Amino acid sequence: MATFITAQKLITGAGTLVDCGTESARFGKSCLLVTGRSSLRKAGITDRLMDLLAEHSIAAHVFDGVNAEPTLHMLDEGRKLVHDLNADFVIGAGGGSAMDAGKVIAGLANEEAPSIEFHEGKKVEKLGIPFIAIPTTSGTGSEVTKNGVITNGAAQVKKSIRDDGFMAKVVILDPELTIPVPPDITANTGMDALTQAIESYTSIHATPITEALSIKAISLICRSLPVVCKNGNNIDARTDMAYGSLMAGMALANARLGAVHGLAHPLGVRYGIPHGLVCGVLLPRVMRLNAEAAGEKYAKIARMVKKDAIEFVEELSDKVGLPKNLREFDISREAFDAIIEESMPSGSLKANPKPITEDDLRTILEEIT
Ligand SMILES: [Fe+2]
Repeated sequence: MATFITAQKLITGAGTLVDCGTESARFGKSCLLVTGRSSLRKAGITDRLMDLLAEHSIAAHVFDGVNAEPTLHMLDEGRKLVHDLNADFVIGAGGGSAMDAGKVIAGLANEEAPSIEFHEGKKVEKLGIPFIAIPTTSGTGSEVTKNGVITNGAAQVKKSIRDDGFMAKVVILDPELTIPVPPDITANTGMDALTQAIESYTSIHATPITEALSIKAISLICRSLPVVCKNGNNIDARTDMAYGSLMAGMALANARLGAVHGLAHPLGVRYGIPHGLVCGVLLPRVMRLNAEAAGEKYAKIARMVKKDAIEFVEELSDKVGLPKNLREFDISREAFDAIIEESMPSGSLKANPKPITEDDLRTILEEIT
């Protein structure tokens, strides 16, 4: 038995940002616009969004306090704004962090308990307000997931708050918005998308529906990631990446992921390493571990890329400028036990095609540090 859930409406293609006003008007006249700290403003996207909303007489308040990792503190701040403004809906525009923050702020809009209680497992009981997702990077797939990854800064814990009701009402996937993304972020987020496509493909929860999405995502990303890292203005390649990351997101939201993501979260939160970079470094190692269990699927990828799948991933990662290990981040051996302890219960790890032991994780940690 399996269920499949995704966003209600996907509007895709270059130039579709222009639809934001009409789509928003269906949800009301007051909006909280959640964005990252500055890149959106610098690229002129915040102003364009405000103009499009103003054309439909929608009053929008910008909440641009979202850091690289959204925290419980930001979440509480955003929820208070929704309450004070009596907002009808939330737009999350930006990378995964801004969309995750916007999604959870909207999803908890009618709840009263502090955000930490939901982070610690309290169930969401009251349906929130509508959420519109506008991705401006191609990587996380957060526009089509029902969870937001939130960090409890004090406890150094990165965990999801999730509910079916968090799913976006509308996604506007306009690849033109990804044109200003610099090469290093394009590479990191792209490797995250590739990891998500491969891990959802080989997950023990994969279904024919998710496999079709994952394999198409893998083909689009493998074809176009090296191109966008070299020439960020190539709109066809940017479009491939936007679709690839969206489809990987649709797959992972239903099939879950694997050991790369199980290990990536504790490493990322402890050492402040960009998520896509950790994924890119871990991916070939985990694939080697899974080579037997996922053999048939890796063979399908190999036929597509005309090369051994693991070698292809290693070469791609090298080509887009990712490091081969995480030595520059000074990960101490004393931290291994804690990292392993945090990884083992993760839902991603449990979806890995081969059961993962503590020793497997230790071997990987030794290899990358
Ligand atoms: Fe990821």
